[in-house]
Amino acid sequence: MSVFSELSSAPKDPILGMTELFNADTAADKVNLGVGVYLDVTGKVPSLQCVRQVESQLAATVRPRGYLPMDGMPGFNTVVRDLVFGADSPAVQAGRVVSVQALGGTGALRLGAGMLTLASPDAPVLLSDPSWENHALLFTRAGFSLGQYRYYDPVGRCVDVEGMVEDLAAAQPGSIVVLHACCHNPTGYDLTPAEWDRVVDVLVARGLVPFVDLAYQGFSVGVEEDRYVVSRLAETGIPFLVANSFSKTFALYGERVGAIHLGCTDAAEAARVLSQVKLVVRAIYSNPPTHGAAIVSTVLADAELRAGWEQEVAVMRDRIIETRLAFRAGLEAAGVTDDLSHVTTQTGLFSYSGLSVAQMERLRNEFHVYGLDSGRLCIAAINPTNIDRVIAAVADVIKSEA
Ligand code: LMR
Repeated sequence: MSVFSELSSAPKDPILGMTELFNADTAADKVNLGVGVYLDVTGKVPSLQCVRQVESQLAATVRPRGYLPMDGMPGFNTVVRDLVFGADSPAVQAGRVVSVQALGGTGALRLGAGMLTLASPDAPVLLSDPSWENHALLFTRAGFSLGQYRYYDPVGRCVDVEGMVEDLAAAQPGSIVVLHACCHNPTGYDLTPAEWDRVVDVLVARGLVPFVDLAYQGFSVGVEEDRYVVSRLAETGIPFLVANSFSKTFALYGERVGAIHLGCTDAAEAARVLSQVKLVVRAIYSNPPTHGAAIVSTVLADAELRAGWEQEVAVMRDRIIETRLAFRAGLEAAGVTDDLSHVTTQTGLFSYSGLSVAQMERLRNEFHVYGLDSGRLCIAAINPTNIDRVIAAVADVIKSEA
């Protein structure tokens, strides 16, 4: 009798499991629009110029590879905190923000969940309906019960702001509310600054605990603009968390670079919180890796490199916008008469297509075009070589249901 004999097979992960199916597909013309990875016009994960420059500097120097502190590289934590909050943020100035290097955005969310397990284990975690699939797994595995707040209006194809505000205003005080700062995953619909103001007012009035997921800073409007909700929350003085990632914005997916930020009530609380986060880290992986953090912190700390990075982010953002236009125009030219305005109004990596599970299955099985069962398609993986194939496949599944 094995210790594992009672374990049944786990279901496939809805996102990374799709990549496994894609990898197993032997068709030469297969296209992976499942996972959220930005690919360049040649279909490759880009190697950013600023990253290459720093990597060649790093390669030329002998660097000790000792353990980093449990909370990560100090210089990294400082520049990343300033990127996420703004260096002039009153919360930063008051020493109220604890920033800790993490293993990508997921690792940051997991550290935050680990802290909330200590601080507020019985609080429900409220996710947007819908949300990134991994939010549910991550918070459930951390021991939380889940709830949802209304977010997406499938009829109006927009954010259901009234529904969201109503649900948050009725939430149990102390509930943890997971928010997407920009490029909402999977819908691509974000709140305007005025709508964020309304939501922040409700979060404060109701005594809720915001947990902001900031995985795409710079992919919607710009690096400054995309952190609007973080700046607003920092002004209120309420405790909140932010998980940020550099997977997409630095194209450093495999290096697992990100950070968790905890906005505390005052500097004394921040010191206690930092001591606890270190133990959360210590109990999982002791301390984070060096390479990705060295790259990101060097770029962000150098004015010229940072300006170059922001330009490279703008190039990725603009390519996605152009691809949206070309994808929509192609579908229209292929005879799709449905309203396709959502393709060009959504922001970020994804098009929340509205295609059904059956249509997504047809795309996969007949056309070798992989998206998620939710209908999410990664627009950022479409390129001049595969666009005609993708358009033909999507047009076919739409028209045959019409
Ligand atoms: C996605 O949503 O596809 C990405 O964030 C990758 C992932 O880890 O799920």
